[in-house]
Amino acid sequence: MFLRNLLQASAILPFLYATSSAQTACNNSPLLCNRAYNNITHLGAHDSPFLRDQTTGFSTSGNQNYNSTVQLDAGVRLLSAQVHKKNGTTGEDMWHLCHSSCDLLDMGTLANWLRNISTWMNNNPNEVVTVLIVDSDDATPAQLGAQFEASGIDKIAYTPPSTETVPKTWPTLQSLISNGTRLMTFVASITADPAVPYLMDEFSFIFENDFENESPTDYKCTPNRPSALKTAEQAADSGKMFLMNHFLYSSGLFGIQTPNETYANITNAQTGLGSLGTAIKTCTGVYSKPPTFVLTDFFNRGPAMASVDDANGVTSATGRTPVSTEPLEEDTTSGVMKRQGNIFAVVVAVVAAVAFSI
Ligand SMILES: *[C@@H]1O[C@H](CO)[C@@H](O)[C@H](O)[C@H]1NC(C)=O
Ligand SMILES: *[C@@H]1O[C@H](CO)[C@@H](O)[C@H](O)[C@H]1NC(C)=O
Ligand SMILES: *[C@@H]1O[C@H](CO)[C@@H](O)[C@H](O)[C@H]1NC(C)=O
Ligand SMILES: *[C@@H]1O[C@H](CO)[C@@H](O)[C@H](O)[C@H]1NC(C)=O
Ligand SMILES: *[C@@H]1O[C@H](CO)[C@@H](O)[C@H](O)[C@H]1NC(C)=O
Ligand SMILES: *[C@@H]1O[C@H](CO)[C@@H](O)[C@H](O)[C@H]1NC(C)=O
Ligand SMILES: *[C@@H]1O[C@H](CO)[C@@H](O)[C@H](O)[C@H]1NC(C)=O
Repeated sequence: MFLRNLLQASAILPFLYATSSAQTACNNSPLLCNRAYNNITHLGAHDSPFLRDQTTGFSTSGNQNYNSTVQLDAGVRLLSAQVHKKNGTTGEDMWHLCHSSCDLLDMGTLANWLRNISTWMNNNPNEVVTVLIVDSDDATPAQLGAQFEASGIDKIAYTPPSTETVPKTWPTLQSLISNGTRLMTFVASITADPAVPYLMDEFSFIFENDFENESPTDYKCTPNRPSALKTAEQAADSGKMFLMNHFLYSSGLFGIQTPNETYANITNAQTGLGSLGTAIKTCTGVYSKPPTFVLTDFFNRGPAMASVDDANGVTSATGRTPVSTEPLEEDTTSGVMKRQGNIFAVVVAVVAAVAFSI
């Protein structure tokens, strides 16, 4: 009798658990708590720290109008960044968030950015956030790990059961939250290091479509990286998560590619040629499920979030602070000098690059 009651109780327990957890939102909706991490579409801010705003003199190297904290407040759950080695620096100051070159745009150290993300995550304990680092100058896992430790964010970083094998199922958001491992970290690319087990090699777990697009007719669903995956079938069979790049470059001065901001409202719209909404639907058709991540420039335009909510079946998100979907207006009284400074920096960088190649 006792045993039977116990069995009944233990059968009811998971149900109660599911019900009570479902009352709280995970990543802005109770509907997402019990879904697997890879069975959700996460909105990504491409080059999250690289700002095109007043603070950078509206740098043409900037991919976003609002900083990473504002992005997170608005519902962005994947932040990508490039990490470069800054010359003439040592220790914690060595690894900076720079766009292609630290002469073009330098947003400070990786550790400082991670501290900002850590602060936000501590203030928002039911949110799972993904950080994707492009390791441009081959920082070792130990060097990247030191930046994570300096920020304290390593304490909530998730470690996968295997650094090589794609898991059959990823944990649910609720289990990541309950376990206190709400930060998912991917690096392109590293060799796994058991001393820093939470740094996951991106292409061991994720595949991407091409990101070099300049026209709204350029987008593809087929894999581009890792190069071993040649077809959509191979990508699907690999079990890796799909990261869908969806942003446009403008090719400008000296063939330098810069994010295409003027077209961002169409790029991030829900419908129409070259829109995010259309691309998600097209690729959902190819893979029989929506992409796990979509990576956008100027994420607030569109807004991109609307297409992501649609893919997730979320209709009444809570706890977000959206930002304007309009272009960010430059305060020209102070912006002009900064913009000139920025163009000067571009020219210096190009001259330096040419000099170096000679
Ligand atoms: C995946 O998401 C769908 C809803 O889109 C849900 O029905 C299904 O149970 C989920 N599966 C897992 C393993 O999370
Ligand atoms: C981000 O931007 C907001 C709004 O401009 C500002 O209030 C906040 O201080 C910024 N936060 C960080 C961490 O840069
Ligand atoms: C920075 O260091 C790299 C590697 O040591 C070198 O190739 C490059 O020329 C340096 N750049 C500058 C601007 O000093
Ligand atoms: C981090 O936050 C500080 C203010 O707390 C801000 O000055 C800095 O720009 C932020 N860095 C990044 C990369 O967001
Ligand atoms: C939660 O943590 C426990 C103990 O470390 C571990 O065995 C389990 O696999 C973790 N679950 C998830 C979903 O990470
Ligand atoms: C942005 O893309 C659109 C569509 O391809 C194009 O018409 C426009 O010229 C581009 N803008 C810039 C600044 O390159
Ligand atoms: C995008 O912005 C342009 C210029 O402001 C406007 O003409 C166009 O109607 C907008 N398109 C969409 C889809 O919002």
